[in-house]
Amino acid sequence: MMERFGTDIAKAREALMRGGLVAIPTETVYGLAANALDADAVLSIFEAKERPAFDPLIVHIGSMAQLNDLVSSFPERAQQLATAFWPGPLTLVLPKKPVVPDLVTSGLPKVGVRMPSHPLAQKLLQSLPFPLAAPSANPFGYISPTTARHVADQLGDRVDYILDGGPCEIGLESTIVSFAGDEVHVLRLGGLAVSEIEALIGRVQISASSSGNPVAPGMLVSHYAPRKPLLLGDIDYLTNKFMGRNFSVLAFSDLKSFEGCVLSPSADIHEAARNLFATLRQLDADGSSFIIAETVPEIGLGRAINDRLKRAAVPDVFES
Ligand code: TXA
Ligand code: MG
Repeated sequence: MMERFGTDIAKAREALMRGGLVAIPTETVYGLAANALDADAVLSIFEAKERPAFDPLIVHIGSMAQLNDLVSSFPERAQQLATAFWPGPLTLVLPKKPVVPDLVTSGLPKVGVRMPSHPLAQKLLQSLPFPLAAPSANPFGYISPTTARHVADQLGDRVDYILDGGPCEIGLESTIVSFAGDEVHVLRLGGLAVSEIEALIGRVQISASSSGNPVAPGMLVSHYAPRKPLLLGDIDYLTNKFMGRNFSVLAFSDLKSFEGCVLSPSADIHEAARNLFATLRQLDADGSSFIIAETVPEIGLGRAINDRLKRAAVPDVFES
């Protein structure tokens, strides 16, 4: 049997050329990849993830030439963003050409495109004659994987190969940006801070709210969630309220005397982002029956970290 886990780009390439599924490392999270231009291959992504067909996929490219094949227009400000932040943790939602299967975009007229910076992902993409559709490589609704092991634990028997590129550098999914006339909308907060986008193109609208119509299902309230309940709020207050109960604590930088984990002992927001999903998985698997967590400072990537924590949290228990 073929070894399913490793660093062999030729094996990954061969499986993708056959229409197979390969988990790929990116700087944000691991993706579950297939030929974006082959509707059958794309369908197998939805099946493996048990993902509803209304949730569109991001298409990953290795060069700007590939972008021209996929999209029919490229607004000025999208170009500025691509020039500044690609390759990197930014997805641009742009009008699609007919070559992109409707399954990829869930029937929407626009496609989300991203050029990842991870060296293995780049090498793989540049070796292929087609771009790769890839959602995060987790079962639908669960926490995104930031190591190859996370992928193997949950989807190991459903992929042809897992390309191991080590732990993800950023640890949060890409920031998704869409364009409508003069307006720029951030559909999902992510690994590129909004402040960096605004420094380049001026004020943008944050449409990444959890209410109303989910333009991007990554915006669904219950998403990125552990299996056990997570209570988000002030940890002194919550631990006091649940004294004597079997919980673990997820703290930003200081665990005090509680049992649990910190995201960054030095209070570094990038380190906290990098550790967030692996730490949530660890707490989900420990012996506790629920998790008490606090938000992190709302600066830089802190906004996206808090967005994920709120979506992971039990609704209506949010207290701060
Ligand atoms: O960092 C990332 O973006 C990772 C890595 C693997 O690239 N991918 C990722 O994919 O997070 P996924 O499928 O888990 O989340 C993609 C989100 C979905 O919520 C989807 O609804 C939204 O992007 N999206 C994709 N195409 C879209 C479109 N045409 N219009 C609006 N939203 C779109
Ligand atoms: Mg996802």
